[in-house]
Amino acid sequence: MDKPINILGFAGSLRKGSYNKALLRAATELVPKDATLEIFDLEGIPPFNQDLEPSMPDKVKEFKREIKLADAILIVTPEHNYSIPGVLKNAIDWASRPYGDNSFEGKPAAVMSASPGMLGGARAQYHLRQVLVFLDMHPINRPEVFVTLANQKFDEKGILTDEKTKEFIKGLLEALTAWTKRLKLIVN
Ligand SMILES: Cc1cc2nc3c(=O)[nH]c(=O)nc-3n(C[C@H](O)[C@H](O)[C@H](O)COP(=O)(O)O)c2cc1C
Repeated sequence: MDKPINILGFAGSLRKGSYNKALLRAATELVPKDATLEIFDLEGIPPFNQDLEPSMPDKVKEFKREIKLADAILIVTPEHNYSIPGVLKNAIDWASRPYGDNSFEGKPAAVMSASPGMLGGARAQYHLRQVLVFLDMHPINRPEVFVTLANQKFDEKGILTDEKTKEFIKGLLEALTAWTKRLKLIVN
């Protein structure tokens, strides 16, 4: 049997009760049989400072290492002021550096978002997709997973209770896994 596709997921929120972190946790239960999903917590990544690039902070080194080891990346983003949160952009900026050592280079990716609002973070996702262009990642286009009215879709323990959302996540992970396998065939 082929080795499972190893997906690394991270969410752009540090909040304990974060819907996006809860969405990512839910995704770990919904991965297809031929894939695994590990979570990387962005807590502890310091604000980006280019002066520190020659000796990267340990947490950043760990983040870069995990990204490089992953076959594919799953990014779960909140929407802040119609864009991606600073916490997420900061982490991405670190992992894209130093110049010539962009850890995301060439990686297949999928994106999802959750918001208590009516658009489920759609605007943030499209900003994130623009960033993925520079990172030279290969995101899947469909399905798009925008979790709207997120405050109604998780219980008080942060467990996803909405069955339709679970189906959307399953579809996203299946598509990401299949896409990653296709890219591997082309590259290898
Ligand atoms: C600074 C800030 C800006 C926000 N801007 C938006 C926004 O533009 N669109 C939106 O749908 N929600 C917005 N929200 C609400 C977030 O969607 C909500 O706080 C959500 O729970 C954040 O994700 P999290 O639960 O994963 O931390 C904003 C929240 C904060 C704190």
